[in-house]
Amino acid sequence: MAKTVRLASMDFYRDNTNLKWIILVVSVIISVGTIYYTNILVEQLKEREKNQVRLFAKALEYTSNDTDNNILFITEEIIYKNNSIPTMLIDEKDKIVNFNNVDIDSLWSPRQKEKELQKQLKEMKRAYPPIEILLKDPNTDEVFGKQYVYYKNSFLLTQLIAYPYIQLSVIAIFAFISYLAFNYSKTSEQNRVWVGLAKETAHQLGTPLSSLMAWVEMLREDPDFKGKGIVEELDKDIRKLRVVTERFSSIGSTPTLKDENIYQLINNVVGYLQPRVSSKISIEVYTLSETIRARVHAPLFEWVIENLCKNAVDAMGSTGTIAIKILRGSEGKVFIDISDTGKGMNKSVISSAFKPGFTTKKRGWGLGLALAKRIIELYHQGKIFVKSSEENQGTTFRIELRSA
Ligand SMILES: Nc1ncnc2c1ncn2[C@@H]1O[C@H](COP(=O)(O)OP(=O)(O)OP(=O)(O)O)[C@@H](O)[C@H]1O
Ligand SMILES: [Mg+2]
Repeated sequence: MAKTVRLASMDFYRDNTNLKWIILVVSVIISVGTIYYTNILVEQLKEREKNQVRLFAKALEYTSNDTDNNILFITEEIIYKNNSIPTMLIDEKDKIVNFNNVDIDSLWSPRQKEKELQKQLKEMKRAYPPIEILLKDPNTDEVFGKQYVYYKNSFLLTQLIAYPYIQLSVIAIFAFISYLAFNYSKTSEQNRVWVGLAKETAHQLGTPLSSLMAWVEMLREDPDFKGKGIVEELDKDIRKLRVVTERFSSIGSTPTLKDENIYQLINNVVGYLQPRVSSKISIEVYTLSETIRARVHAPLFEWVIENLCKNAVDAMGSTGTIAIKILRGSEGKVFIDISDTGKGMNKSVISSAFKPGFTTKKRGWGLGLALAKRIIELYHQGKIFVKSSEENQGTTFRIELRSA
């Protein structure tokens, strides 16, 4: 049973990271494809506009050189048809002779108009090289002067160039907001499951526990059990069960933090764990000050330390050392570093370790670190992370708390 669940949850994580890559790759392909395709359209349209301006310039040339007036109606039609590409006709002294499709407000003063025209001309000069118009003497066909047609992209073309970027930005913003909303609803769903399950567990444990306590009190009075150590052993188990119940009920409500001696709390956990692990594993606690205090909820904090130590034991097999260092950090922080000499974690394990359900163990549930993170970050506003890890050398987890 446990095996199927473990495999299912592991597959979920593997699929999940694959899915992220697939979505990323598909998004990049769509984005590049959109930009590429629009670029092809833009190039085609540019070519068309260039030809249109050439034709327009030719028509201007004909119009100014033709005296017979025989094809004037065609050329005028061509000139008139250019109602989208901004153009300017400039003489050899750089004076503006004429302009088309340039936005000039009729209410502007002549100075304002001139300023705007010069600005537009500058833009056109930057955009494309001009098209030359030769002014000829109608009788001798002799060239006596030149004019230049400058132009820039039509409004349609400018929009088309910007279009894929605007579209992709809108999609990106939409995707980001959807992701936040999805994440938020996922987190709140997870919260409800954590809280509900924890409360229910505490509640279910509570009833048999109180009746067990009453039974033990009765046995304590029974002369048949005196001096045999049975009642004392039962007492120990009941105390552990009470601790477990308290942990579950605290996870299910908002626990109140108290000013506690961290060194002492950690020693409680070590005192409980040391006799329960292999004798070749030693757990050592180091601190420069045994009086370091922080605001914590003792049963939950002890649960975190217990989980980290259990992981460390699992990572080391039967021999090794767990070193717990309590340090005073800057800005009123307390650091707790828990190091082991175990197998270490690779990058992908580190990035998934705190996700609920992630485990690499045959009989793991993948809840220890998820719970530790929840306790430290949500209830204590602290931080917990892998400070360092080296394969086959060991791992150090760090907890950051605010000192009391
Ligand atoms: N000290 C460590 N050294 C090496 N790997 C670790 C260490 N601590 C955690 N891990 C890795 O992170 C995974 C997740 O740890 P977590 O405590 O959340 O779950 P678990 O120990 O597998 O199962 P559970 O704690 O629910 O019994 C582990 O399966 C292990 O691969
Ligand atoms: Mg664990």
